Amino acid sequence: MTAPSDSALFSLPKAELHLHIEGTLEPDLVFELAGKNGVSLPYSSVEKLAAQYDFADLQSFLTLYYATMDVLRTESDFAELTRRYLTTAASQGLRHVELFFDPQAHTARGIRIETVIDGISTALEQAERDLGITGGIILSFLRDEPVEAADTILNAGLSRRELLLGVGLDSAEVGYPPSLFQDVFAKARDEGLHVVAHAGEEGPASYIREALDLLGAERIDHGIRAVEDPELVVRLAEERIALTMCPLSNLRLRTIDTLADHPLLRLDAAGVRVTINSDDPAYFGGYVGDNFTAVRDALGVTAEQAERFARTSIEASFASDARKKELLSEVDAWRG
Ligand code: ADE
Ligand code: ZN
Repeated sequence: MTAPSDSALFSLPKAELHLHIEGTLEPDLVFELAGKNGVSLPYSSVEKLAAQYDFADLQSFLTLYYATMDVLRTESDFAELTRRYLTTAASQGLRHVELFFDPQAHTARGIRIETVIDGISTALEQAERDLGITGGIILSFLRDEPVEAADTILNAGLSRRELLLGVGLDSAEVGYPPSLFQDVFAKARDEGLHVVAHAGEEGPASYIREALDLLGAERIDHGIRAVEDPELVVRLAEERIALTMCPLSNLRLRTIDTLADHPLLRLDAAGVRVTINSDDPAYFGGYVGDNFTAVRDALGVTAEQAERFARTSIEASFASDARKKELLSEVDAWRG
């Protein structure tokens, strides 16, 4: 069987379920917004900024990620950021996106959560009209900030309840287990919000169990360290929990040594539902289609496996049943 071509993988209709909108801030837009907003940057050129994108681990990335987003100031900045991401996303076959944003990283700089949500929403509405992409917004709590801050930001976000799909949990993982956030997630669930959580990226497999048992997570973001716990792998498969995996992110943050070590296919073979996503594509060297081509090259992902991951991304999304059906028939047409 021949390997799927770049264009076949790019045109495969798919959903992205693990994408931080602030992680789509490309160096050229950083400079554009810095100029517009009068923000002085510690780098003299786009190239010098891009040269910083050599990370030792998650924290070294997060430090740059939080610093760089300081150029995002106005509703139109968030709309423009999201518009650019959605344009690239469409060119790589994305038909539905559920994107994270980190409101605490903006409110800490004096930017209102409504400014952020309204900007992102405007671009999503426009993309639905112009590109036929559907989507939603997931409010992510910073797990390395106090639990009370998560509660405060949830209350603030509820002023735009109708624009939110769910809540998530991100930022520095080790030392910040899901159990800390049990009450905040219970409140979010009571509001009818969907629940997902980053777990098992750098943190242990036990954090994945906590996310399921204590937060009620419907999907696990990353989850690569599940492979260290064979009983958990069986459970994930039995309970049909989808993992939103991000191969290029794992490589660039050195949670794996080489892409050939990525557990994607081992988990797929064990019956776990896996999906392929880009996490913070501006920082990690590729958008979702690039992640598909990278795992084809490193792991030998076949067209049949790629199609399964795309179907899973649609089925595991929080889109309506009607929208899922529509997108699954687009996948059927892609297969021909
Ligand atoms: N925030 C943005 N990207 C992240 C990642 N890969 N892990 C945890 N938090 C994040
Ligand atoms: Zn992430």
